[in-house]
Amino acid sequence: MRNILVVGGAGYIGSYMCKYLSKHGYQPIVLDSLVYGHREAVKWGPFFEGTMSNADLLNRIFSTYQVSAVMHFAAFCYVGESVTEPAKYYRNNVSSPLTLLETMREQKVNNFIFSSSCATYGEPLEIPISEAHPQHPINPYGRTKLMVEQMLADFGNAYGLKSVSLRYFNAAGADPEGELGEDHQPETHIIPLVLQTALGQRESVSIFGDDYPTKDGTCIRDYIHIADLAQAHLLALEKLLDGMSGGQYNLGNGDGHSVKEVIETAGKITGMTIPSKITERRAGDPAVLIGSSQKAMRELGWKPEFASLETIIETAWNWHKNHPGGYVS
Ligand code: UFG
Repeated sequence: MRNILVVGGAGYIGSYMCKYLSKHGYQPIVLDSLVYGHREAVKWGPFFEGTMSNADLLNRIFSTYQVSAVMHFAAFCYVGESVTEPAKYYRNNVSSPLTLLETMREQKVNNFIFSSSCATYGEPLEIPISEAHPQHPINPYGRTKLMVEQMLADFGNAYGLKSVSLRYFNAAGADPEGELGEDHQPETHIIPLVLQTALGQRESVSIFGDDYPTKDGTCIRDYIHIADLAQAHLLALEKLLDGMSGGQYNLGNGDGHSVKEVIETAGKITGMTIPSKITERRAGDPAVLIGSSQKAMRELGWKPEFASLETIIETAWNWHKNHPGGYVS
């Protein structure tokens, strides 16, 4: 069985990736600091508690297991916090991956898959956004993701590292089998906040602005199911192991939903009234983010299976209603 090191494998997307890898005949080896990840979500292989900035620990893992590839899901991901605490983001999202890549080079591990973001594009000049769109991020979070993409390109040119950067749009949904889901502390993402409101854990959802130039005035996002993200990672992994040199790919559904549509759809699926109130715009929110993923479909053979907003919210609701307190419940 091939070993894949999954950094951040106790987190929301990383833990589902481990389950998916295990189902497809790979052994995931998890490295996670548990600062945001959950020990309960690590079930499919060996676990090491720590960070990718710990070269000794990485060397120990690489000398114990023959690792075919590394997947990195361990970035900090709060856009707002990245503006007020940029040092935290540059350290964890840029400096730590540099240690990981240097250790991989020393240990001759040559395949890397990176969770990048549509936040690397900044304010869109055209919709849908393709991979050729200029990358001018507008916040430190997006800049850290772009810096790692640039580091990967330079490591590829100089040292022959092969890497795939997958630029996610809005990751959402939960394990279709109900075992794993989204449990962020604090929670800032719209779908879990809406579902926590449906469960009565919050009084109402704030809609951050209804005066955007969109059909109902609220922001439009391209929601993409974590199971479809996992499928893309596996396809990219197999291409890399088959000899592909690497590349950058958007992962979105090419379809946008407004904040009001998310709340209405969640109301129908949960059968609950979800109170909402209009508040100020949140700084740094583009009106519309929709990605074109034609390249991933064409070159990786990616076929999203959980594309509809209904399916995304249904799987998330299934998780939230059975785990009202997150992993501890
Ligand atoms: N929103 C609200 N109310 C809330 C929370 C969010 O109206 O309480 C709105 C936001 O303004 C935005 C939409 O819902 O228009 C989605 O917001 P999320 O916070 O769920 O997601 P973002 O689009 O801000 O961020 C996500 C990822 C980031 C990534 C970004 C790329 O969480 O990691 O997409 O744009 F960088």
